[in-house]
Amino acid sequence: MENLVTATAVPPQLPLDYTAEVAERTAPVYRRLKSVIPEIEWPIHAPYIAEIQRMKEERGAIVLAHNYQTPEIFHGVADLTGDSLALARQAMETDADVIVLCGVHFMAETAKILNPEKTVLIPDPKAGCSLASSITAADVRLLRERYPGVPVVTYVNTSAEVKAETDVCCTSANAVEVVESLGAERVIFLPDEYLGHHVASRTDVELILWQGHCEVHERFSGSEIRSYREGHPGVVVLAHPECPQDVLAEADYVGSTSGMIGYVGERKPARVVMITECSMSDNVAVEHPDVEFVRPCSLCPHMKRITLPKILKSLQTLEHAVEVSPAVATRARRAVERMLEIGRGTGG
Ligand code: 13P
Ligand code: SF4
Repeated sequence: MENLVTATAVPPQLPLDYTAEVAERTAPVYRRLKSVIPEIEWPIHAPYIAEIQRMKEERGAIVLAHNYQTPEIFHGVADLTGDSLALARQAMETDADVIVLCGVHFMAETAKILNPEKTVLIPDPKAGCSLASSITAADVRLLRERYPGVPVVTYVNTSAEVKAETDVCCTSANAVEVVESLGAERVIFLPDEYLGHHVASRTDVELILWQGHCEVHERFSGSEIRSYREGHPGVVVLAHPECPQDVLAEADYVGSTSGMIGYVGERKPARVVMITECSMSDNVAVEHPDVEFVRPCSLCPHMKRITLPKILKSLQTLEHAVEVSPAVATRARRAVERMLEIGRGTGG
């Protein structure tokens, strides 16, 4: 389709006007978001939300957003939201010709690996990840030399080149299942050391770990969690497995970002603290006004590179298209698809 490969003339990125029509069109969205976005900010976001909605239709595009995106993106323009696993699945299942991935680069790259024929856009290509940058393909090849015959599982928070050196990928939602699916006594598990320790505590498989860490989750500590419990009696502590072990030892539930969202939806705790990135609590609080959220804030600077003006520009210019060389993509796709098959109960 012609319009999928041709950028439209791009108007300058001036602040868009908050007209009466925009106010009316976006009013239902604001009614949902008013607990997390001050009224004074809405005239800044609303014109972008209205224009992004229009451009999505013009482009035949779909917006996928990770759970850490800000509420105006997550609730305002995303068609589908989720954790890394859900985004990978949704990218594979969508019929849209253009996917705008609001998340970090490895997530967009995973979408491209699964959809080589589609246009996958990331609004800011500098949206990286400390875990992904902690390891290279050469590191994985060296580990294979050091541990001959030991299979390699890598977290999806890695580059396409690293995925290409891997037997199978995993996310925080399926890591134990993936490791056990290999039927091996020992597995090289890369690159998140803390997720690795968490998986090791739940399986008999011996894991060889790498010292990669998430710069957002490694800042939390066990003593911080104890202070939340003291200051907020009865608080239920939900933690992401990228947190250090002393944090996970204090948590009532450990799971992926979607796992935490599911916990709040199903168990409806009166008071909860999510030990993870800041925007999660805002996004979940919108859906659960009866739950009190204690909100420690640890921002992911990479996720926060994605903004409404950049999403709009991406739709207008079809930038920044993610490309993966066919040789790397073919090998990386095997590792990602193998993971997705395991999750469907059809894997090894
Ligand atoms: P999830 O797969 O749990 O969403 O985690 C991705 C991530 O980058 C967490 O920091
Ligand atoms: Fe990477 Fe951590 Fe940001 Fe997730 S929160 S994208 S693991 S740096």
